[in-house]
Amino acid sequence: MEKKNIDWGKLGFSYVRTDKRYVSLYRDGAWDEGRLTEDENITMNECACVLQYAQTCFEGMKAYTTEKGQIVCFRPDLNAARMASSCRRLRMPVFPEDRFLEAVVETVRANAQWVPPFGSGASLYIRPFMFGSDAIIGVKPATEYQFRVFATPVGPYFMGGVKPLKVRISDLDRAAPRGTGHVKAGLNYAMSLYNIMDAHDQGYDENVYVDSASRTYIEETGGANIVFIKGNTLVTPQSDTILPSITRRSLLYVAKEYLGMEVEERPVALSEIGGFTECGLCGTAAVISPVGIIDDHGKEIKYAGMGDKIQKLYDTLTGIQMGRLPAPEGWITVIE
Ligand code: PLP
Ligand code: COI
Repeated sequence: MEKKNIDWGKLGFSYVRTDKRYVSLYRDGAWDEGRLTEDENITMNECACVLQYAQTCFEGMKAYTTEKGQIVCFRPDLNAARMASSCRRLRMPVFPEDRFLEAVVETVRANAQWVPPFGSGASLYIRPFMFGSDAIIGVKPATEYQFRVFATPVGPYFMGGVKPLKVRISDLDRAAPRGTGHVKAGLNYAMSLYNIMDAHDQGYDENVYVDSASRTYIEETGGANIVFIKGNTLVTPQSDTILPSITRRSLLYVAKEYLGMEVEERPVALSEIGGFTECGLCGTAAVISPVGIIDDHGKEIKYAGMGDKIQKLYDTLTGIQMGRLPAPEGWITVIE
């Protein structure tokens, strides 16, 4: 199969239209059979629930070409489960998890020419999403929905490649106790847009959010979870108001089972982060991006950047994803 003629190494994290996307419509209480389409545009009513009340959620996952030339996807079952949980929280009908997996496989297969080759440093980002599409003016859930999956080839999420990130402790919040921080609702991202642009204007790559109730515990960043290293221990915040990152959950396993590290998933106080030696942001888009500086209101906490442990975690995780290392049972779905 001929790949598209793209300079894969130059790709950043931006949308590139690919050939096919999947769409299924929910109407009269049921999902239709779904289909692939070439049409990337959506026409809907001006009063659609998603436009008025942001009734939408999404997922993010990647497909890779392995060393042996297979196209694979990393733990898509966990994305399916998380999307179901997001839908329930937003009162949207769940797209059945087995059908979610089929739709992802179908979309990637139909865009196989867009899956970056092994060793290019790029991957195919897959974006399943759902939104309420019929006209709703009183505040209530829609009755009609679209579930869609598109794919787009991407490079690194953070510009500047391996340069350690400079992030700041945020004065604004992303999630409230008992709110929607633990699901992948579009609204969580809408309310972070002001803050991410402000961070960029001030010379920071990302915002590190603290818990909004006490403002004393580290939560996560706008688009990734956070991990810290101290000696041979990986420490990552535990909180009900952060997104349960599939990358973070995988790293906890990799640290313990592949690298013989200790792991701690527990509340991490802002006051203790000066005691860690390495720090990284982890997520599908971020992979593990090393942090060089956390700026806490003028107090700069410095980390090793791509230190020894973050490097090992990165190499092992990407080794599993790209088929260089044996994967735990069920982690890799072969697409073709
Ligand atoms: N936290 C937030 C707010 C995110 O948007 C993401 C990205 O999906 C993550 C964490 C990382 O989650 P995952 O590793 O499942 O991609
Ligand atoms: C992902 O990592 O898949 C995300 O959704 C993060 C987003 C900010 C691009």
